[in-house]
Amino acid sequence: MSRRLLVTSVALSFTALVAAQTTPKVSDDALGTIPYDKFERPAACATCHTDIARQHEQAMMSQAYTHHWDEIEYFELAVPHAGKEPKVAGVKAGCNGCHAPLAFLAGDVPPKKPAEGSRANESVSCDLCHSITGFSGDLPYNFNWISSPGKVKQGPRPGVVSPHHETRENPFLRSAEFCGTCHNEKDPWGLFVKSTHLEWKEGPHGKGGIVCQQCHMPPAPGRSARMGSDLPDMRQHLFHGAHDPGKLAGVAEVRIHPETREAEPGDTMKLTAVVVNAKAGHKIPSGSAEERVLWMHVEATDAKGATYHLPVDRKGFKDEDFTVASATAMAYQDIGDIKGFANFPGLKRDGTYAAMAPGDRIFRLPYLDPQGRMTIAQWNTAAFATDYRLAPLSAVSETLTWKLPDALPAGDVTVTAKIYYSRLVSSVGEYLAVPAEEWAPVEINTHQTTFTVLP
Ligand code: HEC
Ligand code: HEC
Ligand code: HEC
Ligand code: HEC
Ligand code: HEC
Repeated sequence: MSRRLLVTSVALSFTALVAAQTTPKVSDDALGTIPYDKFERPAACATCHTDIARQHEQAMMSQAYTHHWDEIEYFELAVPHAGKEPKVAGVKAGCNGCHAPLAFLAGDVPPKKPAEGSRANESVSCDLCHSITGFSGDLPYNFNWISSPGKVKQGPRPGVVSPHHETRENPFLRSAEFCGTCHNEKDPWGLFVKSTHLEWKEGPHGKGGIVCQQCHMPPAPGRSARMGSDLPDMRQHLFHGAHDPGKLAGVAEVRIHPETREAEPGDTMKLTAVVVNAKAGHKIPSGSAEERVLWMHVEATDAKGATYHLPVDRKGFKDEDFTVASATAMAYQDIGDIKGFANFPGLKRDGTYAAMAPGDRIFRLPYLDPQGRMTIAQWNTAAFATDYRLAPLSAVSETLTWKLPDALPAGDVTVTAKIYYSRLVSSVGEYLAVPAEEWAPVEINTHQTTFTVLP
């Protein structure tokens, strides 16, 4: 009798083991399945992998939970919204699947605030990434990676020996799908509200097999550990993106030309500006596109130094209004709904930038809440308007038609086109007291052309 029981329980635990191996718990189902102490801290890796550790500390992924704006959006908007709106209840835990994955796996949600110094603060850590063995399903999204922490670290190379751990060559770490598990996000309406990997896949880099790692973890000769071997192509853990002014510099190019080199006062002058995404492997803006503002501002200066702002010509596509800067359009009213304000008028849709004027072109994907108003809450997005962002290795051309004033002085007119980028629409940043470094606009490119006004 006791023997039979034993056999049954062995058989049962064997079945459980097989089941666990064939259907790993991923995405929402992984909540609370792995305690914190299964993962080593970044400080443990830093003793040997010093340069990589210092690089990672400077990357946003090591701050994905502690960064000021992440803390504000999660605790002031997402968590209260999850508490009052059943449709979005899942985000209270779900945001952490990508931003504080150790806390998510430990079932510690919401985690303690960053100031309390819990292990949630480790954000996207060394051991989290190097314990990912693969992903489940056909498409990487919503943290559907498979986590298997322990003695064995997943790495890109075969036969690597370390005194601290075992290593396993895992080609998955060299794939774009590895990144896509967190860089594609599907919201409660089933929309891809973050689609960096999907944009990459359908673009020329994806089709040509130039993966994320080549631009964000470029290889350089060096060692990956103090006592490691010399490598011709050590993968640098830079992960620099929109928060790095150098990565942003020149990311959209602009060239502008007049239709004729000579004109008379009273003539109509047509100018054409061509804007190119020549540097990124996905759209610009990508990822948190709901928050970003990317725009072109064009000004002319006449021979006497007077300046004129030139608005873009309308093209007439669906929802174009969202892409033309307005001083009066309001949006983001759902912030008021979440905070429980009656009749909240919303905030300035296009921010409050000195470098923007009504009529400037904005390259954006408008995210619309269930009432059709623009939102920065990507989890509250029920529809999109027309996607008017810059696709990789593609250009967009914009025309500006200018009726030259009758009193325009003779001489050269200089026309300057500038491209600006702001990580967070400034009206929202100011309203939610997000530090200005997050939303202050950066000039990312400029070009000038001239024509002559005849006497
Ligand atoms: C966002 C996920 C991620 C994080 C966080 C991360 N790594 Fe990596 N790491 C990778 C990927 C992906 C590769 C392989 C890149 C390739 O070869 O294409 C890699 C490669 C490595 C390598 C081998 C480098 C080489 O070229 O041989 C070491 C060592 C390493 N990581 C250690 C660390 C340490 C230590 C930390 C924390 C300080 C860390 N990683 C943080 C994703 C990550
Ligand atoms: C476990 C989830 C996860 C994985 C896997 C992951 N990322 Fe990230 N990544 C994030 C999160 C979350 C952020 C946002 C950090 C923040 O809050 O600003 C981020 C931010 C970034 C940024 C910075 C963007 C900026 O605004 O400056 C880059 C670049 C980036 N990731 C590249 C990669 C690449 C390349 C890979 C694959 C090698 C990868 N990530 C894998 C979660 C992940
Ligand atoms: C006692 C030193 C030491 C510590 C601590 C340590 N490592 Fe390593 N690790 C090494 C050495 C040495 C290598 C081999 C490097 C080489 O030969 O190029 C290595 C290699 C690796 C590789 C590369 C595998 C490959 O395929 O190229 C990864 C990934 C890695 N370590 C991750 C980690 C992580 C994550 C931590 C912290 C949880 C960590 N290591 C802690 C010494 C250490
Ligand atoms: C050809 C080089 C290249 C490739 C390939 C590439 N990126 Fe980028 N990435 C860039 C540049 C340049 C930027 C800076 C422009 C920007 O922020 O939009 C950037 C920005 C980003 C950002 C910040 C975007 C934003 O608007 O906040 C993230 C996140 C990111 N990349 C992740 C990825 C992931 C994930 C992949 C692969 C699926 C990838 N990148 C492939 C060059 C590349
Ligand atoms: C599927 C993974 C995933 C989920 C789920 C997720 N995020 Fe993110 N989040 C990211 C990635 C990746 C980035 C970086 C994108 C970029 O820079 O383009 C990011 C960026 C952000 C940023 C902007 C940081 C910055 O300035 O670039 C905030 C704030 C943020 N997330 C908050 C949240 C909140 C709140 C939730 C839950 C409602 C959430 N995220 C859910 C992956 C995720």
